[in-house]
Amino acid sequence: MSRILVTGGAGFIGSAVCRHLIAATPHICINADKLTYAANPASLEAIADDPRYRFHKVDIADGAAIARLMADEDIDAVIHLAAESHVDRSIDGPAAFIETNINGTYCLLEAARAHLERLDAARRAAFRFVHVSTDEVFGSLGPEGSFGEASPYDPSSPYSASKAASDHLARAWQRTFGLPVIVTNCSNNYGPCQFPEKLIPLTIINALSQKPLPVYGKGENVRDWLYVEDHARALVTVLERGQTGATYLIGGRIEARNIDVVRRICAVMDELHPRPGGSCHADLITFVADRPGHDLRYAIDPSRIEQELGWRPSRDFASDLKSTVEWYLNNESWWRPLLEAVYDGRRLGLGGRVR
Ligand code: NAD
Ligand code: TYD
Repeated sequence: MSRILVTGGAGFIGSAVCRHLIAATPHICINADKLTYAANPASLEAIADDPRYRFHKVDIADGAAIARLMADEDIDAVIHLAAESHVDRSIDGPAAFIETNINGTYCLLEAARAHLERLDAARRAAFRFVHVSTDEVFGSLGPEGSFGEASPYDPSSPYSASKAASDHLARAWQRTFGLPVIVTNCSNNYGPCQFPEKLIPLTIINALSQKPLPVYGKGENVRDWLYVEDHARALVTVLERGQTGATYLIGGRIEARNIDVVRRICAVMDELHPRPGGSCHADLITFVADRPGHDLRYAIDPSRIEQELGWRPSRDFASDLKSTVEWYLNNESWWRPLLEAVYDGRRLGLGGRVR
């Protein structure tokens, strides 16, 4: 049993990691989150009163606060997910991405390094720092091939550039200071509790409200989808059995064009929540101006984590997309307040291109 610090545990993936730690492991879960717009404490209701779960409102870029938290909670491991995570917002306002994703990661690495110095040899040997990153650091693929652990870095957006910088910091702290870092890069996640700025929840919620379904460009960009609970299980597997200094790519082997994802959601909505008057939800699809710097295709080869650690994505895209739609239909109390107070569904990410 370990005391695991999860940063960003009130977000989409972080909350799935916290729920997984409590439901499926003996570990103690210490969630440190700044509670930005993207956080939703309702995602943690099921575990909030569990004796093995604790929450601290902390900014990872506050080095003194995060160092104090690591000492007070006497932690054994870190799963670092806290980040500004939305590409479109990084186009409109990159500053928060630099501050949290780069400076915040630096502060966390420094706090972990100082904490490690105070541990005895056995605990120091067992300590792990799992740095959670994205396949977007590798830039865009053409129509063929996939990303592997040795793919070169070539980020396109302020978001992916800031994540790339944080990956480099994490690896440097491993090589230079001996911090036991493991880096993971995963593909696009989907599932319950995702903030409605991202493609899948935005499409579901707009369809439910009979609003246009914006598809950027021609909808031909390809993403490789990973069910969030598979990802949570992968991260805990990497923490428990991954090799220090290694990189693991995590993906669900589910490549799909955006237009096909949106059409699938429309078909599920036609079945579960037919439109008044009998028209199809696909009639709401609207092609809109493309995202600046839009990467064409991402695809992950997850062979290493499959072969070395025995992790497998367990999911079927059709049924999991359907259960994700069902989750949003059944949990309006989770997302409705966000639309009213935080984000009303408007188009983001068109600002700022030099003409
Ligand atoms: P999210 O935006 O849903 O949640 C991010 C969480 O981090 C929020 O709870 C927010 O309050 C918290 N946070 C932000 N700044 C903070 C700060 N300075 N201090 C403490 N907490 C802070 O993000 P997500 O989709 O759950 O992504 C989690 C991680 O996984 C990120 O590092 C992201 O880059 C990575 N990732 C996500 C995806 C995806 O498809 N969602 C894919 C690849 C990688
Ligand atoms: P998104 O969910 O923002 O994730 P990411 O940019 O990290 O991949 O977008 C997924 C894909 O969907 C991406 O190619 C952009 C596209 N997209 C749309 O076509 N329409 C939308 O309204 C949104 C939010 C995204």
